[in-house]
Amino acid sequence: MYISMKKILSLAVSLFLLTESFAQNPVINIQATQPVSTIQPTMWGVFFEDINMGADGGIYAELVKNRSFEFFKPLMGWKIERKKAEEGDIIIQNRQGNTVNPRFISIKANNVAKGELGITNEGFKGMGIKKGLRYDFSVLYRHQKGAVKLHVELIDSKGNTIGETTLIPTANGHEWKKEAISFNATETEAKGKFRIWFEGNGEIDLDMISLFPEDTWKKRPGGMRADMIQLLADMKPGFIRFPGGCIVEGYDLSQRYQWKKTLGSIEDRQLIINRWNFEFAHRPAPDYYQTFGLGFFEYFQLAEDIGAEPLPILNCGMACQFNTAELVPLSELDSYVQDALDLIEFANAEPNTKWGKVRADMGHPAPFDLKFLGIGNENWGPQYVERLKIFTKAIKAKYPNIKLVNSSGTDPNGDRFDYLNKELRDMKADIIDEHYYRTPDWFLKNAGRYDSYDRNGAKVFAGEYAAQSDKTVSVKNVNNWKCALSEAAFMTGLERNAQVVNMASYAPLFAHAEGWQWTPDMIWVDNLRSYGTPNYYVQKLYSTNKGTHVLNTSENGKPLTGQGDLYASGILDKATNEVILKVANISDKEQIREVNLEGIKKFDAKAKLIVLKNTNPEALNTFENATNVSPVEETITLNPKKKISLTLAPNSFTVLRVKLL
Ligand code: AHR
Repeated sequence: MYISMKKILSLAVSLFLLTESFAQNPVINIQATQPVSTIQPTMWGVFFEDINMGADGGIYAELVKNRSFEFFKPLMGWKIERKKAEEGDIIIQNRQGNTVNPRFISIKANNVAKGELGITNEGFKGMGIKKGLRYDFSVLYRHQKGAVKLHVELIDSKGNTIGETTLIPTANGHEWKKEAISFNATETEAKGKFRIWFEGNGEIDLDMISLFPEDTWKKRPGGMRADMIQLLADMKPGFIRFPGGCIVEGYDLSQRYQWKKTLGSIEDRQLIINRWNFEFAHRPAPDYYQTFGLGFFEYFQLAEDIGAEPLPILNCGMACQFNTAELVPLSELDSYVQDALDLIEFANAEPNTKWGKVRADMGHPAPFDLKFLGIGNENWGPQYVERLKIFTKAIKAKYPNIKLVNSSGTDPNGDRFDYLNKELRDMKADIIDEHYYRTPDWFLKNAGRYDSYDRNGAKVFAGEYAAQSDKTVSVKNVNNWKCALSEAAFMTGLERNAQVVNMASYAPLFAHAEGWQWTPDMIWVDNLRSYGTPNYYVQKLYSTNKGTHVLNTSENGKPLTGQGDLYASGILDKATNEVILKVANISDKEQIREVNLEGIKKFDAKAKLIVLKNTNPEALNTFENATNVSPVEETITLNPKKKISLTLAPNSFTVLRVKLL
């Protein structure tokens, strides 16, 4: 075959240009053999608060709302069903002497048949009922006169019975007794209700009327909603912060979170109003209370279940400064400080101590191994510093190894922040909690925020953050891909600075589609379904690809903090001997980079590539399309003799795991 000289020349030129253009792809250089600093196992965690129906009506799987009639309106959530009306046949009474759970309901049944006299509970925006599942009904009762049967039933949104049984009280007399009975649902229903029909002739008092599904997390009776907890467990979070958030502070001090009141049997846990009940006039939630069926013991147990360090936050003697800003006088702070000391004893001491015994009696003789404790949520000003100093002195004197988390207020900049940041650093704070609810653009511009932080000073806990598609507290905020990608980009900066940033968590965590006060939120649920937002998948990609050491990762000698619309961080996982590279490409163009693992002679030809992408920055996940924006994982083949060529899709977050040999 004859090939002309001209053709040979032109082929040679094209080949040259091709190699040249490949050679011209910018290089991301990772100094893979020189770890810069360690990454704390706590690096990526979760923040839990009872907001947006997070606990009651959320992860706490109780289906009955206002089970103890202690809401401000005692029959809120209940409907009285009367075919034969009789004055005084259903009344609310108040036990004098019981300050924790005074109210109960009294039924006078005057020869009634099933269907004539009853009470119906509407649940939290309805009850999610599943066909074939067992439901456990329990009640505290006092059967003073005659004989009254309880026909309990689940009903669907049209009023049809979809599961039923009958409880015949076994005890008579003046003593309260707890009894339980289970039955199965015959249909699935998202908007179910629960009803008790009374039958017979007599008088019966009822309290703590409760209904739980069988399929709770770890099948614990009275436990948590398994699908929601599974989403957390799948993240393998390094810590769980609880119980908030502003509910720690309370609207006033009487409504602050008091952990000691959340222990023991549920009828002894005093309900209080949830501060999100009335916080936003534009999102009123008049039926939002905290029953504390989910209390501190359960939070510690949850942390243990999902392998996360528990991070409780306590009130520092200050109510929410956006609300009443009530202060405990310094001279009266003792009981608050004692609560902190007792909490450490509750979590860590042997069962032969006062609070260790309380834990053991609740079923956990082994310590929970608490290492971190937060003092104050979003508190600020000199009043906070004064109180914090008192807490710190007392806690460090008794428990020098407990790391204390301190608040830097509500914002990541401004006078409040500057004042606290300086004071706390002067105090040699262990960990400073920073919060930022900002625009996606802020997150992109702040990817280098921690590059200049003091390496030897206080550590940072990015304790609450979320990109706001509209503005903070706007009801228009959505969990779109643009926001999630900006968080992914920003988080490369947290990871690069793991020497300074030891913990980070997105906030808020959960929201019920019909019961939220605050958006955006990481996980959305209704009565039967739950899904992770694009933001959830970003968080999950970080926490399940967290590694142990930071590696210097640069392009043209500089960390990638937005040059060419790219953000990157490289880390080492010593446990698996892998280099993990994370790159956010915020442009709408595909980009190619060569990745150089400096100092590495051999790596496995098989590598893992995980990509989270969507060409539409407005893309959302929904109940119907829950994985619209979700990671796709593949095994790719590399040429171990060459640099790695990495194609970065438009609007994407890429995780590459390369095994070193
Ligand atoms: O996450 C919602 C709220 O935002 C938290 O309760 C509070 O700490 C912050 O202001």
